[in-house]
Amino acid sequence: MADENKAAGVLGHLPPWPRAALNNSVIGMEQAYRQRKGLPLLSDADIEALKAGVQMPWETGAAAPAPEAASATPAAATPAAAAPPAAAPVATASAAISPEVAAIVAQGKKWSKSSVAAEQARRGRKSLPALNDAEITALLGEPAAPAPAAAAAPVAATTARPAAAAPAASMAASVARGGESTKYVGTPAVGTSKAAAAGGISSTGPEDNAVNQARRRLAWSCVAAFLMAWFLAFFRFFLPRTLFEPATTFKIGYPSEFGLGVDTKFQQKFRIWVDRTPDRLFVIYARCTHLGCTPDWKPSENKFKCPCHGSGYDSEGINFEGPAPRPMDRAHVELAPDGQVVVDVSRLYQWPKGQPSQFNEGDGSSGAWLRG
Ligand code: FES
Repeated sequence: MADENKAAGVLGHLPPWPRAALNNSVIGMEQAYRQRKGLPLLSDADIEALKAGVQMPWETGAAAPAPEAASATPAAATPAAAAPPAAAPVATASAAISPEVAAIVAQGKKWSKSSVAAEQARRGRKSLPALNDAEITALLGEPAAPAPAAAAAPVAATTARPAAAAPAASMAASVARGGESTKYVGTPAVGTSKAAAAGGISSTGPEDNAVNQARRRLAWSCVAAFLMAWFLAFFRFFLPRTLFEPATTFKIGYPSEFGLGVDTKFQQKFRIWVDRTPDRLFVIYARCTHLGCTPDWKPSENKFKCPCHGSGYDSEGINFEGPAPRPMDRAHVELAPDGQVVVDVSRLYQWPKGQPSQFNEGDGSSGAWLRG
């Protein structure tokens, strides 16, 4: 019965005549349908005829099929069908690789399955001939179908149409691989991760080799350095910005250590001069009363000279030239219990212009001077 069906052919799920040329996707679905329903599968000759848009001989009211499209039918055994020159052109033309595809393959480009599916869809929309198995195999860069698979093709087809052996072997191999042609139906959209996976493109990220590991280490080092710098800046925010100044009260030694005249050894450290006269000892605060510069002691001239604007002071700090408005201030002095001189520069004695002087107050116990 199956042989009869096969000989007579069945419409199956194919579109009824008249119909356009079918592509691989439709034929693949038809083969799958026939497998599920237990119907005779399309032979290679049938497939080639369907791709060529030829009416099948077993269709109702069909005109006499072209000999080259009916290799699986009894007509194929007739002498006319057995003539190879007439049968070869159609099958060969549909199974051969077109110049367009050959040019793509010659460029070394390898298509993914999703790209092939997209191309098939495009050709379907444009009513162009669909890619045949040989072209698909070439575009995918897969090895050609093994020749032994051709053994599955009917003997009648082999004998009647030797030129169709190659595409027949290709389609038979395709069917033998589990209807691979059906995989082109419903393939993922181009550009998606599924399409990439179908095309053999890895979607799991870059390779884990030494170069990429070094790049990752460098990237993470930069991130860690940035975070560390940010943390230190944040931590520094909580530290006080303190200006450490020298103490304002300090000891300078015993009175007997200072001779008559001006002693400048504490100028750099405490900004003072120790001045001793025959009857007293006092400390001049080394700050010009004009704009605050530090005057220089000129021993040869026995005077202080301000380098900023030229104010001059005598050896006791009394101004006598320049823009200075008044004598230089004197620091508080007193004797410590151990007999040393204690100076307090936070307490200054002044002689403002036109006002009483604070320099010579009291008997030396007020702090402006010490009895020498
Ligand atoms: S600051 Fe001393 S003279 Fe002006």
